[in-house]
Amino acid sequence: MNKLALYCRSGFEKEVAAEITEKATALGVFGFARVIDNSGYVIFECYQTGEADRLAREIPFDSLIFARQMIVVSDLLEELPPVDRITPIIQQYQLISTQIKFNRNNDIWVETADTNEAKELLGFCRKFTVPLRSALKKQGWLMGESHQKSGLNLHCFFIKSNACYVGYSYSDNHSPHFMGIPRLKFPIDAPSRSTLKLEEAILTFIPQTEEAKRLNETMLAVDLGACPGGWTYQLVKRGLFVYAVDHGKMAASLHDTGRIEHCPEDGFKFQPPKRKQIHWLVCDMVEKPSRITALIGKWLLNGWCRETIFNLKLPMKKRYAEVQLCLQKLADELHSHGLKFHLQAKHLYHDREEITVYIQIK
Ligand SMILES: C[S@@+](CC[C@H](N)C(=O)[O-])C[C@H]1O[C@@H](n2cnc3c(N)ncnc32)[C@H](O)[C@@H]1O
Repeated sequence: MNKLALYCRSGFEKEVAAEITEKATALGVFGFARVIDNSGYVIFECYQTGEADRLAREIPFDSLIFARQMIVVSDLLEELPPVDRITPIIQQYQLISTQIKFNRNNDIWVETADTNEAKELLGFCRKFTVPLRSALKKQGWLMGESHQKSGLNLHCFFIKSNACYVGYSYSDNHSPHFMGIPRLKFPIDAPSRSTLKLEEAILTFIPQTEEAKRLNETMLAVDLGACPGGWTYQLVKRGLFVYAVDHGKMAASLHDTGRIEHCPEDGFKFQPPKRKQIHWLVCDMVEKPSRITALIGKWLLNGWCRETIFNLKLPMKKRYAEVQLCLQKLADELHSHGLKFHLQAKHLYHDREEITVYIQIK
């Protein structure tokens, strides 16, 4: 096994390729990324066998920005006979079981890429899961528990109904979601669909066991570029009081909560109200990434907030280079002022041409 499959949003394959190549090289693992534009995945082929497994263990999944999932895979199994796709897959797992510790794995996910064409396969994937799961159980390979934090999760990644990659991910170093996509339901009383971006960001960056401690009614937040209020809604829902900064109008339902103050001001000039200690800064303004990271840097260096979630809009061609440049500059600045912090960035499912960044001052 010398390949990694990485899932992503369709159109972001080059970013994933750049990212995985850089991370692998940093670990002394060399290979090349096979990119098919708009396919929704990238295959990174290592020059040496066994190295893909090492990457799946040693590249912290949280450090990947553009990849939604990371799995070690076999060569592509092609021309699977429609009457019995299971036997070749089981044979492939038999081979895998000779190479790594392979018993009592958590669950099997039969997946496909997140593209319109591949989505047509989803119905097939769902149906196929049932017989495949029982065949794997018969071999004693499966416990059927998908939320374990250790062990392996098995994946069959179909790119056509007769062709799939067979593989696994490490449950302590992968996305815990089927196809790497958290399923969130749009709250009907939210003012805008972009509310799901902040909800997914909170789910991604803040352990659920800590959420009540990290976001609660004792805290004040500032939302820069807040209108009509989808992000503010998520904060108010968790009890925070929000200064909503935007020249536009906030949804009346948010005013009715008594938990917001609308500040019709320029987000680049706004400063925290006097004698108020702001804990959270969130920012969804449509601006150049370099301007946004400079603004966030100003807030953190002035001690105006402790935690922040913000978007970087990426309409440019060289998206990976732009992200690296802006985040590195911001990190260097925080370091040079002696600040200790945790920084994580992710291209979330609900992000389009943008990524979401989280920083916590330690
Ligand atoms: C993508 S929308 C934000 C949507 C919002 N997060 C939500 O969930 O409803 C961007 C907002 O940023 C605001 N904006 C852009 N530049 C701004 C600035 N310099 N100061 C304040 N707001 C700004 C726009 O008026 C717009 O309402």
